[in-house]
Amino acid sequence: MAKTMDVLLKGAGTFDGTDVAAYKAQGGYQALERVLGMSDQAVLDELLKAELRGRGGAAYPAGRKWSQMYKIPITPKYIVCNADEGEPGTFKDRELLRDMPLKVIEGMTIAGRVLHSARGFIYIRGEYRAIQRVFQKAIDNAVKAGYLGKNICGVEGFDYTITIISGAGAYVCGENSALLNSIEGRAGRPRIKPPHLAEVGLYKKPTLVNNVESYADLTVIYTQGADAFLELGVPGSGGTKLVCLSGNVKNRGVYEVGLGKVTLRELIFDPAFGGGIPDGKELSFYHLGGQSGPIGFPEQLDTVYDHDSLWDAGLSVGSGAVVVADGDVCIVDYCRKVMEFFVHESCGKCTPCRIGTMRVLELLTDLCEGRGRPGDTDRLERAITQISALSACGLGQSANKAIRSCLAHRREDFLAHEQGKCPAGSCAMKGGEGA
Ligand SMILES: Cc1cc2nc3c(=O)[nH]c(=O)nc-3n(C[C@H](O)[C@H](O)[C@H](O)COP(=O)(O)O)c2cc1C
Ligand code: SF4
Repeated sequence: MAKTMDVLLKGAGTFDGTDVAAYKAQGGYQALERVLGMSDQAVLDELLKAELRGRGGAAYPAGRKWSQMYKIPITPKYIVCNADEGEPGTFKDRELLRDMPLKVIEGMTIAGRVLHSARGFIYIRGEYRAIQRVFQKAIDNAVKAGYLGKNICGVEGFDYTITIISGAGAYVCGENSALLNSIEGRAGRPRIKPPHLAEVGLYKKPTLVNNVESYADLTVIYTQGADAFLELGVPGSGGTKLVCLSGNVKNRGVYEVGLGKVTLRELIFDPAFGGGIPDGKELSFYHLGGQSGPIGFPEQLDTVYDHDSLWDAGLSVGSGAVVVADGDVCIVDYCRKVMEFFVHESCGKCTPCRIGTMRVLELLTDLCEGRGRPGDTDRLERAITQISALSACGLGQSANKAIRSCLAHRREDFLAHEQGKCPAGSCAMKGGEGA
């Protein structure tokens, strides 16, 4: 039987995560203390060796990002933690923020130390109001214990503070450059890149943006070492990953898995994880990594869950979301709901995303309401290709992924809707002739 891991969330919920003494009793602050005895280069080398891929969605190697920013001679530098957690079906960062806030603070402090930054910001989703209060308490306690503020751990000149910013409530504010605009008090719209944030970031200064889970992972890397971290995962994808299972699955929740250690089948069907589909129904599909991610099908269930294996199968880890759908869910209608989300969340800055998502939604709505026409599937494919090719930021560029994977694997469902038939029997025309 496949097994959940107990590394990043070890002890979570069993002690007061805002209490420094309690956190230290669980092994807390050993990573920072070890980093204090290492040269900057040794810390960067260890991160590169650990092969930590960013946990926010894009999976960019953290060691590479840190090394690029380290080389930039401009000061001051800023450290930003992306705790916007806006990707639908994703609810893992809140576990860390609520139960392990000092772990996230320790990770951000390590980044401050190595990248010579005295200012950290954490952008926490606006709806996580209670969690913001917990996190502030943890910051205050870390200051009192000498782990934030001036001369941290008694090291002359090691000064670092963390400020909480409450998220502005839009999905696009989770995109790293929109997030920085939002911190600066501007409209949360993405910036045109380049220049990259490592050079021109917050207040036009070099800025590191990493996800909550990525910062928390640093505490594992610098206590257990890069080799041990790598062994928790696979070459190319070190460590564990917090996976969020939801939808038509028996055991919904957050599970910690070793990257490369379980298959999608185990994640969805093993009693240690999802436990299968309720009410004896069949699996129809599963949506990976949030609305911006691709959709997987039963024939892909034996794919191993790590960045490269999923990528090879046309899938992705993304944020760690796995939303499961049973056979009663119409795939075309599901795509319609995904597109509704993108229409709502497009910031409107560029036309292909602002208008293109609306046109795609109209096409999908027509298909679902019995007004489909021959050729709509091809029109749909052309439209999503244009949107992803011509959009300026990751939102528009990824708005095509769910539909594209459905067209690749279940094109016949779209063609049936052109004829006014819904194979799942859940659209307006209920499997019969168009309304
Ligand atoms: C529309 C959009 C929304 C995003 N939302 C989030 C988010 O809520 N949390 C997050 O960590 N990353 C989010 N990202 C990814 C960030 O832009 C960025 O890649 C990430 O914070 C970098 O951290 P990592 O390298 O540790 O993953 C989003 C990206 C896009 C395009
Ligand atoms: S792709 Fe969409 S969300 Fe991104 S900048 Fe353009 S309009 Fe805004």
